[in-house]
Amino acid sequence: MWYGERRADYPDIPFFDDVTLEASRSSETSYVLPHHYTRMVEANLDMHHTPFVHKWSVPGLGAIVRDFHARLEGNRIYTRGQLCRPEQSEGMAFRADAILPNLGMIELTDKLRLLVASTPMDDGHTWLWFRYYQDYSNLPGVRRAISWLAVQSELRIVQKQDRRIFSGFAPGTIDDVDYPMVQADLGIVLYRKRRRELLDSTTRAAAHG
Ligand SMILES: [Fe+2]
Repeated sequence: MWYGERRADYPDIPFFDDVTLEASRSSETSYVLPHHYTRMVEANLDMHHTPFVHKWSVPGLGAIVRDFHARLEGNRIYTRGQLCRPEQSEGMAFRADAILPNLGMIELTDKLRLLVASTPMDDGHTWLWFRYYQDYSNLPGVRRAISWLAVQSELRIVQKQDRRIFSGFAPGTIDDVDYPMVQADLGIVLYRKRRRELLDSTTRAAAHG
């Protein structure tokens, strides 16, 4: 985390206080992507791309978002909902949260979570770090293997599918692109709104300082 110029006191580093941080159940990796970090934070709040972009990786996953809720508390955005087929009233439940400026947490099942940090390197590159946590098994040897397999499938399958979409991104930040938003984009709308408020308050503070 970069806090700007050197100073005497620093605020706490923000983090998800409801995520179990048991290293033995987790596996992680990182790589560099040629996009502004805000595009990655936004992409992590966009769960409803899953049945389209990752259709073959999650067979049977519905494309209708039901029971969708999104709210902002301080600098954290909470979203949750279900991805359903038309005949389903309950499908795959998900949570996708973000903490500004650059953290994401996706709960794919109640036993498999993914943390993502999208750290800006410059205006066109992001150092993307992610870590999978699993709660399926506590058996020695197995607990690390499950999260390792999740990381491998993310790297070898899921990320390749995402990168085909990312490669079509126009350059720039989220401020340079505007989409017609739908109800399931409310988490993204809240992220954009809160980011704008924080940027404006920084600009005002600089003007008065
Ligand atoms: Fe994706």
